[in-house]
Amino acid sequence: MENLYSDLANIYEAMYQTFIDYEDEYLFYSQILRKNKKQNLLEIGSGTGNLAHHFSQNNFDYQGLDFSEDMIKIAKSKNKNAQFLQGDMRDFNLEKPVDSILITGRTISYLLKNEEVNNTFFSINKNLNQGGIVCFDFIDANQFIPGISKGKKLTHEVVFENVEYRRDSFWSLTLKNGFDFRWISHFFQKENKEWKKIGEDDSVIRTFTKDELEVYLELNGFRVLEKIKRAAYAFPTIVIVAEKIK
Ligand SMILES: C[S@@+](CC[C@H](N)C(=O)[O-])C[C@H]1O[C@@H](n2cnc3c(N)ncnc32)[C@H](O)[C@@H]1O
Repeated sequence: MENLYSDLANIYEAMYQTFIDYEDEYLFYSQILRKNKKQNLLEIGSGTGNLAHHFSQNNFDYQGLDFSEDMIKIAKSKNKNAQFLQGDMRDFNLEKPVDSILITGRTISYLLKNEEVNNTFFSINKNLNQGGIVCFDFIDANQFIPGISKGKKLTHEVVFENVEYRRDSFWSLTLKNGFDFRWISHFFQKENKEWKKIGEDDSVIRTFTKDELEVYLELNGFRVLEKIKRAAYAFPTIVIVAEKIK
């Protein structure tokens, strides 16, 4: 069952702080916004609010949107002045359109069906001002999928606030709707020198080729401005920046 962002939201918050350098994420994405002269933004998949903190501190006009009430609860507790909306990227309506929309942390991986990808870019277009930009990262199928064709096991051990955590991951190809794979995770915490299981997650994650995403963008009124290769903690990723032209 997929529950990393509900029952396991606190474990996500602890472990991902160590996987992802959010300050570096902020510097990377804010530089793209500044280069395109954008000051207000919606972050889709705002999670536990780690980027919200940096954007709000640096005078960006920030709003977050996330599907999960549990993630939003943590995000709000850390960012008293930022605005977070509960919503679904596949169909959402802001009160007022914004100048930029970010989707970070490979959140588009949860768009398993082609229709969901298309609906998401349609919704994004609807909620952007003319000339607005969308900027998102994705796991690059070309670089990632061949390497897991026979399945893969891997372990991450981290320490956060003096607590030791471990995640054992099992990856296997599903290839149901696109270049997708099944990711089973078992989470552990060390107690009295013993690993104690604290949760598990079973999700299907979709990777993409940059060419197919370019088609979805074009279908929904966008022109690609930039494609940037960028390594993430466990995945080869690409970031696309696209401008609303229709
Ligand atoms: C991989 S996490 C990334 C969180 C954050 N951006 C970060 O880097 O830590 C994905 C987030 O997207 C949210 N999410 C998943 N599907 C969504 C959807 N259809 N609409 C909005 N948010 C969604 C999850 O609840 C989760 O908080």
